[in-house]
Amino acid sequence: MKYLIQTWGCQMNDHDSEKLAGLLAREGFTAAAGVEDADVVILNTCSIREKAVNKVYTELGRLREEKKRRPLLVGVTGCLAQQEKDGLFRRAPQIDFVMGTMAIQKLPRLVEEARAGRTRVIDTGDYPDNHLFPPETTLRHSTAKALVTIIEGCNHACTYCIVPTTRGPERHRPWKDIVGEVEDLVAMGYREVELLGQNVNSYMGGCTFAQLLDRVSEVDGLEWIRFTTSHPMNFTAELARTLVSNPKVAPFLHLPVQSGSDAVLRRMRREYTVEQYLERLGYLGEGRDRINLSTDFIVGFPGETEEDFEGTLALLEKVRYDTSFSFIYSPRPGTPATRLEDDLPLAEKSRRLSRLQARQTELTLESNRRMVGRTVRARVESRGALDGGHWLARTGEWKNVHVAAAEGLRLPFGELVDVRVTGAGPHFLRAEIA
Ligand code: SAH
Ligand code: SF4
Ligand code: F3S
Repeated sequence: MKYLIQTWGCQMNDHDSEKLAGLLAREGFTAAAGVEDADVVILNTCSIREKAVNKVYTELGRLREEKKRRPLLVGVTGCLAQQEKDGLFRRAPQIDFVMGTMAIQKLPRLVEEARAGRTRVIDTGDYPDNHLFPPETTLRHSTAKALVTIIEGCNHACTYCIVPTTRGPERHRPWKDIVGEVEDLVAMGYREVELLGQNVNSYMGGCTFAQLLDRVSEVDGLEWIRFTTSHPMNFTAELARTLVSNPKVAPFLHLPVQSGSDAVLRRMRREYTVEQYLERLGYLGEGRDRINLSTDFIVGFPGETEEDFEGTLALLEKVRYDTSFSFIYSPRPGTPATRLEDDLPLAEKSRRLSRLQARQTELTLESNRRMVGRTVRARVESRGALDGGHWLARTGEWKNVHVAAAEGLRLPFGELVDVRVTGAGPHFLRAEIA
């Protein structure tokens, strides 16, 4: 039996797919090369915005055609599965099984039942041990950076967001389990880990998140720790100190602000004002300049006036984010924001998004240019020189680097190398081996 897992959404979902693959491998399944080759296809879905959901339904349409030609099991897992539950069978009867985000360890049983001919197999229950997944089972995609869950779920209640519904309330993994998993990963050859959660900095699995970073950094042989993602209200001075001073913590911070207008932030229920957000960023002190600072914006939230939007642009100017991700507000079923009046035309929302993104592109280019002349550590991410005569690498700041391939030079995949930055574009740096 061969499986194929298609994944949408965030790193949490990517990592869930690695767990699902591991569970199937344990049952003797092997990975298929493509849909044509698979006996079971799993769609591990995201429902953060409508676009993500539409992609899933498009794929389900394609699989319906494939199922007409030959026997094939189709399963839907992830956030859309948790949100829609058995409603998915009504909308797409070609689905054989549905599994929610909190029932992940039930996958082998669900596949078994579907194989035995049962129809509409489903488990979207909440299991208290879901976050205690046996790490040795996980089948990781990358051999360079390992994803490690530290916390599942979210206790915030942003009015636009589906995640508290799809991922449930916070559950914390004990810190010793996390350190143990990282030790095993390093023994397997990994030098870099990314700690994952919807809100990692509200971690309380026996210590604070800053303490967890310090404890993980003590694992011998580990070189870089990354983490994603953080809520500003849980960003403490202690965490800022650790980020700035612990050399193993990569110099990257993603701290989503969403909007630069207090009125909008209030309606979003983000729990902070612009001023409070800036105060927290201030915890970084001088360290700010060495950190790649990133954020998320939602544009066109219900009731966003031109003035509110100007506030967002003003915040962008003030903070000068190195990168940001911005999205047009997408109403999610059952969330409180859907009850707010939203009369701004889509064309106007798109115009605002373009303005924001155009300015960010300029700021990112400036940020990249500031790195020219510096020597930085980067991890090699391609197995050989690419067509353009360069290797791909990634800096601690999480910037892409094209490293010039010198004659006779062999860069080992996954290794850290020192590179001197020689040029910059908006999406990548150019460099040569230092
Ligand atoms: N836990 C993180 C965010 C996870 S969702 C945090 O609180 O910061 C990732 C991003 O998707 C969010 O930061 C937000 O910018 C965006 N997002 C979430 N729901 C959205 C919606 N309904 N419409 C548009 N963007 C949304
Ligand atoms: Fe969603 Fe807010 Fe939780 Fe982030 S903090 S996952 S935006 S509810
Ligand atoms: Fe999407 Fe769920 Fe992640 S909605 S962004 S896959 S937590």
